[in-house]
Amino acid sequence: MSDPSRKNLSNSQSVTPVAEDPESAFFSKHKPFYPPRLATRDLDPQGADKLGLTAEEAEHFRETGFVIKRGLIPKEDFSPFIKLWWQQPPVSAAKMSPNDPASWEAPGRHWPEHNRWGLANNWMGRGVWPSPEDERPGASVGERVGRLPYKLTQDVSNDVWRWHGIGHDKAFVAVTSAHPRVLHMVEALLGGPVKRPRRNRGLYAIFPRDRAGPKSKLGPHMDQNMTELIGVTYLEDVHPNSGGFTFYPTSHRRLYATSKQALNWVPTNRSKEVMDDILANVQPFEFVGRAGDVLFCHGWMVHSAGIHEGSNIRMAVFQDFNKVRKRGHMRWTVAGKNGGVRINCNMDGVFVFPTDNTDDDPADGMREVTNQWIMDSNEFVLARHPPLDDMFEEWNLGQHAVEGNVVDEPAWWEKYDLPLLPTGDVPRGGGGMPAELLSKIARYEGAGIWKVELRANDWMS
Ligand SMILES: [Fe+2]
Repeated sequence: MSDPSRKNLSNSQSVTPVAEDPESAFFSKHKPFYPPRLATRDLDPQGADKLGLTAEEAEHFRETGFVIKRGLIPKEDFSPFIKLWWQQPPVSAAKMSPNDPASWEAPGRHWPEHNRWGLANNWMGRGVWPSPEDERPGASVGERVGRLPYKLTQDVSNDVWRWHGIGHDKAFVAVTSAHPRVLHMVEALLGGPVKRPRRNRGLYAIFPRDRAGPKSKLGPHMDQNMTELIGVTYLEDVHPNSGGFTFYPTSHRRLYATSKQALNWVPTNRSKEVMDDILANVQPFEFVGRAGDVLFCHGWMVHSAGIHEGSNIRMAVFQDFNKVRKRGHMRWTVAGKNGGVRINCNMDGVFVFPTDNTDDDPADGMREVTNQWIMDSNEFVLARHPPLDDMFEEWNLGQHAVEGNVVDEPAWWEKYDLPLLPTGDVPRGGGGMPAELLSKIARYEGAGIWKVELRANDWMS
């Protein structure tokens, strides 16, 4: 079935880009050609072990789109969180022990199909979070329920646990994304005013694979969101071929030039061609590093979970950094219902429902609305100008001294009064954004149009 919002938008609002599912990534249909090259300490430009950005590092970032800072965070800062990690439900369900490496191999076989730990009873304002097979009033059976605080997947070859729930833990954010040494680097690269991070995507663990299973593979993609600068922090040492973050240097620059907008990713046909060419002709790098090393790269860098043929658990934190900017609407998505398809919110804060489905009344506001709550930057940028000739024109890249220009912008869940954080008896490490009622976040204007009220910039006035 074609996406009805596409048709309507192309007729009536051609200046507003087609609304995309916020959970979708930008892929190529081709397989990556080159195996990764190891980005080890000996390849770093001069200055990697010092705070700040040397001229060599600034030039390296401008050319390749990444820089690695070694030992940026003392690894002792992570100890409480690694201890907490070993106490979480996915670990106990798989009977993993820190002293028994054999127990770390392919734990996914022990995970329940619906890992609904650490959730408040706040689905659609008051209910238990459903599983996709449950009958529910606001969505068709089978519609996804959105992210969980413990997202466990059995991927092509390695099992992965993305602990998104720890990403909004204040103490965790303080030793990762909002660590003073990290913020120093963000300002040195991106320039101010830096938006003080309020959450990150959490702690991602890649487990040693089942030795009887297939070999580990790359899955390159681009995250297609508003993140300006990505951070990857290792909580434990990551050896070669052991799940190190893998990325395609220069890919950000090539994709940037194909987007319709500079600050919101709006792909074109040319973007697909360029993505195919990147996978065919660019050799990826695999970030090899120690606990406390941090890689910074441009937000539109093509990347992949690393090939993991090793025997350790790869523990990394994925982070989004942005400047303070006037923001647009949140990237919402409404689950399909009564045979209708999923409808996504566009940059104008508009959902366009088809009016020709006699089984599905577009005025019905009893629909599940979710967003990609793992992000810190969940709102479009208000400015819609095309890419600049110099994509780093507004960046610092070491030109100006760092002065601590970090601003306490309210988090998106505060601006819109949304129940992301753990409440009641939900333990630390749980929580997450449940579905809300469409009629709670938007107003029906007739003719299939639902409109959200913009609250993104109220705090500035
Ligand atoms: Fe990604």
